[in-house]
Amino acid sequence: MQNLNLPPDAAANTISLMIGHPDPTTLFTPEFQASVNRVLAAPQPFHALEYGQEQGNPALIDFLVDKFNRDQTLALSREQLMIVAGSTHAVDMIARLYTHPGGAVMVEAPTYADALHIFRDHSVELHGVPMDDQGVIIAEMERLLERLSASGNLPALFYTIPTFHNPSGTTLSESRRVEILKLAQRYGFMIVEDDVYRALEFDTHAPPSFFALAKNSGVSVTHIGSFSKTLAPGLRLGWLIASAEAIAGFVDCGTTQMGGGASPLSAQIVAEYCRQGHWEAHILHLQQVYQMRRDIMLAALEQYMPEGVTWTMPAGGFFVWVTLPENVFAREVKRQAQEHRVMVAAGPNYFIDPNSDNGQHNLRLTYSFAPPEDIETAVRILAEVVTGLCA
Ligand SMILES: Cc1ncc(COP(=O)(O)O)c(C=O)c1O
Repeated sequence: MQNLNLPPDAAANTISLMIGHPDPTTLFTPEFQASVNRVLAAPQPFHALEYGQEQGNPALIDFLVDKFNRDQTLALSREQLMIVAGSTHAVDMIARLYTHPGGAVMVEAPTYADALHIFRDHSVELHGVPMDDQGVIIAEMERLLERLSASGNLPALFYTIPTFHNPSGTTLSESRRVEILKLAQRYGFMIVEDDVYRALEFDTHAPPSFFALAKNSGVSVTHIGSFSKTLAPGLRLGWLIASAEAIAGFVDCGTTQMGGGASPLSAQIVAEYCRQGHWEAHILHLQQVYQMRRDIMLAALEQYMPEGVTWTMPAGGFFVWVTLPENVFAREVKRQAQEHRVMVAAGPNYFIDPNSDNGQHNLRLTYSFAPPEDIETAVRILAEVVTGLCA
């Protein structure tokens, strides 16, 4: 039977290395089903279907605060965490409350395309900071800040995906995080840390978050997490961590006030799931699943890609960023690969101006979604396309 929920690029007979969705076979588990059943079998199940509290489900807030305090040696109070309808909801709220049309916002170049979309919706002036394989380049950020300072339009915030970055797969080193915090102190911008892939680490532990490193620095950090990558994106559930004052502002903003809190039914089910200890076990399983998928993709790239093609080595998350030789253009590779039923994402869309030179020779490959047995086939076909274009 056709799955009508599949995105168009994952249609029958194609292999998608394009979309950054989780492995569909990991989404529905007996433990999740049991949590749904328990919530709906409660003596008064209609409570789960009512409007929720504005800050979010209290049991889930308590669970997350305890977990992050324990795992990341933080000292969060429950006033510092809010449940949101996914990371995307949080980014939109932050843009709404902390930017204004024409005001400057810094992003990584490349960055998550849907975040660019949200910032464009708010008519801000976007500025990209170039990256290398350790994340954003500090000297480039300093240069940009000096320029913006001279023009009197210092950025309100820096939006970053520091850990297992989308689309590049890189992780910002701890020393660069510290340097960026110093720049935030000097120039007074907020750091918006979109950390949705943090838990999906393979080889080594991810560096401390900006939020953890910022302790006592006076720098304002909003930290965003999500159940989309470690449980199920259809829940539309995530969290936002910030100062108590900032959280009070988010709780007080328009859509939260009459939104009845974010995704109350999902939140109640997930609170039950987490209370039973299932989430941590599931994350350990996902780390193995995605590490195995990553290894298949890296081995296939090594085996099939022609000379002159390079790629990043993600230590977690979903993505590999491929750099093609200068005479090979990503959009042409994408077009030809599609003719052979392999879907990939071309680099330009991850940059502020998709018509600039940026990303013209890059591809984003995801190893998270396609069946593992198809990943090697897809990379082989892709490599044949690239080899043909190198000639
Ligand atoms: C960096 C980043 N942030 C946010 C999201 C979306 O998260 P959510 O489903 O929680 O809105 C994604 C998903 O692709 C992502 O890559």
